Amino acid sequence: MNVLVIHGPNLHLLGRRNPEIYGKATLAALNAGIKKHAAGLGLKVRAFQSNSEGGIIDLLTGNAAWADALVINPAAYTHYSYAIRDAIEALGLPAVEVHLSDISKRDPFRKVSVIKPVCRAQFKGEGPLSYFKALDLCAKLK
Ligand code: DQA
Repeated sequence: MNVLVIHGPNLHLLGRRNPEIYGKATLAALNAGIKKHAAGLGLKVRAFQSNSEGGIIDLLTGNAAWADALVINPAAYTHYSYAIRDAIEALGLPAVEVHLSDISKRDPFRKVSVIKPVCRAQFKGEGPLSYFKALDLCAKLK
């Protein structure tokens, strides 16, 4: 099973971006953990990061034929990108939304996810474990 993992804007800054919120691990370390966890589940992963809405939509479209499932941290786009929401819906891939932090316990604007309605589940507030739980769910979709 092939899983497309997409990290949204500013997640390239992991490690130095608000470490008290997002932890000290870099994106490279997070991706290494994701790939290790996925390998243990027998999943193949392609992981990408993009800082733009169109970039994320192009990644979704360009990898849709390869992917059997999607794990996405849309970052700030979570809260207002109807374009990413529509792309996920249009491609029809089973999708899982993830967040390192608990978006329900932060700024009011972060409590809303416009992506959630087109996802099978949302894992949040557990750091890298949020991604690992999303992969566990993907493995069950087989
Ligand atoms: C985030 C939460 C978002 O509100 C924020 O804009 C991010 C990261 C998270 O992983 O906790 O960039 O998606």
